[in-house]
Amino acid sequence: MASDKKYNRPDLKIPVSLGVIMDGNGRWAKKRLLPRSAGHRAGGEALKELCRNCGNYGIKYVTVYAFSTENWSRPQDEIDNLMKLFVEFFGKYDKELEKEGIRVRFTGDIGGMPDDIRKICKEAEENSVNRDRMQLIVALNYGGRREIVNAARKIAGKLKNGEITEEDITEQMISDNMYLPDVPDPDLIIRPSGEMRISNFLLWECAYSELWVSDCLWPDFGFDELTSAIEAYTKRDRRFGGLSAEDKK
Ligand code: FPP
Repeated sequence: MASDKKYNRPDLKIPVSLGVIMDGNGRWAKKRLLPRSAGHRAGGEALKELCRNCGNYGIKYVTVYAFSTENWSRPQDEIDNLMKLFVEFFGKYDKELEKEGIRVRFTGDIGGMPDDIRKICKEAEENSVNRDRMQLIVALNYGGRREIVNAARKIAGKLKNGEITEEDITEQMISDNMYLPDVPDPDLIIRPSGEMRISNFLLWECAYSELWVSDCLWPDFGFDELTSAIEAYTKRDRRFGGLSAEDKK
């Protein structure tokens, strides 16, 4: 698995938690005069490679943006193709994920997904619950604003029934009411395909994430791109609103 020397880089600071906005599948396909579905399929292959590479680098949590609450506005045949791809990925490729020791989890409004997808998500989570090398968190029907609204509603419910008072509402309480409170906030968020947007991805959790953008389209994103992102992250001075170690002296 991690015996490959290319992953042995003591000079790198490896993020614990990584977020990836898998963008550019459509443009990748268009450049090759292929249908958009071919771009998504190639994006699935890039995701498999990402999992392998992140596991080998020792990253513990990888959250990927696979389908947003806004993606329902795409043409129905593109949505159908994506759904087919999700079913295939978590069915057919589970053996590969198992080999890599990858636990699969989902974040988002999974209740709003079609029945067959919900079933596949549940099975993928249950089958992989004991794997502990890395967690792959797939954001499906995910919207950062919706996640915050959901947390606000849960907290409002507790306030209404007297379980808590207004003063009990803290940043920690909001974090605790996000979809997956045990998953650490992303240290680094990668966005391929050149767009400089966060696109409603992990809005609450990204407060202090480092951002790394590249022009590479998602299906072309491989080991070299991931390594460049981690190299850039290694050089970042994360101050979390405070001073750098150098300036505190
Ligand atoms: C955005 O690119 C990508 C998506 C909306 C889908 C992401 C899905 C995959 C990478 C497929 C594999 C995922 C799983 C979980 C099996 P885009 O279509 O908006 O690209 P464009 O901006 O170039 O048109």
